[in-house]
Amino acid sequence: MIDIVAGGSASDSAADALIVGSGPDRSYDTIGVWVAEQLGDWLDAYLDDADFGGKPGQIAVVPGGETPYRTIVFAGLGDAPDAEMVRQAAGSSGRAVRRAVTAATSLHLVPTPGAAQAAVEGFLLGQYRFDRHLSDPKPARTESLTLIGADDAATAAAHRGRIAASAVAMARDLVNESAVNKAPAEMARIAGQMADRVGLRIKVWEEDEIRDGGLGGLWGVSLGAATPPRLVELWHEPEGAEAFLAIVGKGIVFDSGGLSLKPADGMETMKTDMAGAAAVFGAMQAIAELKLPVRVLGITPLTENMPGGAATRPGDVLEARNGKTIEVLNTDAEGRLVLADGLSLAVEYQPDLVVDMATLTGACKVALGDKIAGLFGTVDGADQVQAAAEAAGERVWPLPLPADYRKKIDSDVADMKNTGPRYGGAINAALLLKEFVGDVPWAHLDIAGPARASETEHYLLKGGTGFGVRTMVALAASLGEA
Ligand code: BES
Ligand code: MN
Ligand code: ZN
Repeated sequence: MIDIVAGGSASDSAADALIVGSGPDRSYDTIGVWVAEQLGDWLDAYLDDADFGGKPGQIAVVPGGETPYRTIVFAGLGDAPDAEMVRQAAGSSGRAVRRAVTAATSLHLVPTPGAAQAAVEGFLLGQYRFDRHLSDPKPARTESLTLIGADDAATAAAHRGRIAASAVAMARDLVNESAVNKAPAEMARIAGQMADRVGLRIKVWEEDEIRDGGLGGLWGVSLGAATPPRLVELWHEPEGAEAFLAIVGKGIVFDSGGLSLKPADGMETMKTDMAGAAAVFGAMQAIAELKLPVRVLGITPLTENMPGGAATRPGDVLEARNGKTIEVLNTDAEGRLVLADGLSLAVEYQPDLVVDMATLTGACKVALGDKIAGLFGTVDGADQVQAAAEAAGERVWPLPLPADYRKKIDSDVADMKNTGPRYGGAINAALLLKEFVGDVPWAHLDIAGPARASETEHYLLKGGTGFGVRTMVALAASLGEA
């Protein structure tokens, strides 16, 4: 794993690559000013030729000449950059220098709260690749990142950034992995390895426990699959912790739609339908490594949604863990069925707040596009998650839970049905989830859009993004402070 080093000054550090930020009209920090001076007059003309003006998203790579750096990367920050702009600039730069063995930067000096953590997160996430199935992988060669002139606070923040970035990378790896390699039992095994390494307690519910324990939603969805379901509980229980957070992640390792089969193109990305569960695993890993002073429970119901001969049929009624019944009219609305059990179980432990993350509805992508998650919940629950997402640089937007829409999921034969009208599909799904959280403050993130990036940009690589990990870590941190 890469070393994060606090370095002295730009002139007495040395590295293969130096990354410096640039504001509009190529205004630099002190390190950038020094480097530009060393490089000489040609630099401005060169950057003019490249049309580099320091706008967000722009980078310019120039040779380091006589400086102690072989390559200099100027990364655009725009004016008044916030931490997310630093993260993005660091991400683009990290992608540009993946083959540099040593790197140095001054991006952590951008005068905005969270800059040091964001610089490290962006750099590391930009260097991420999912290459385990390539015959000729080209892994990032970077072994160290020096933060020039970093003080103790910046160094500590950088350390947190590294922990966050590896948690996000872990979630991305799981999301990007083929479904054939991540059956529920395999997911549970991976969670167990991680738990042992970072010191989390783990409890895995096997298929007979799921059936006998009344987890009828998870059980019902699993019936069409050839591999058995699991439910993983991960527990972070530091001594003396007062606040108690539960996070639940949808873990459909492949969503074929079940008997309400999806069309072929709708299945292409459905190995990523466990991104909520992956975000729970990643967040739990980081929360343990950061030793956050808050009790946290992570729950992931894990199953495949397949149309086997024993599959749940449209018209079947399932009974969830809390005793409520759901008529399944569309087996492709399976996420809410497994979350019904995950949430029921979570609230049995009486947390102060329960948050679920799920690639739940295409309708949420229609509403908000593919970069913003839908945020639902009780007022107190949703507010806390919104604040955490803002702090973490993840984009969420609140959507309503109108009480008069509840009747749209009334069933003729059960307490509710698992589909509603096409319009407001993300809301209909969230209203069903609400039936399973009791009186516990709750928030629901529909991450169907941002769990996956359709294009590579800044610190995101095409594919799994690890969305939700950083927000959950920020949320746990804020609860620990209170
Ligand atoms: N996993 C899908 C939602 C999804 C769709 C996530 C596209 C990411 C990209 C979910 O299980 C699903 O199939 N939802 C249905 C619900 C409908 C049948 C009520 C949907 O959104 O079409
Ligand atoms: Mn589905
Ligand atoms: Zn699904």
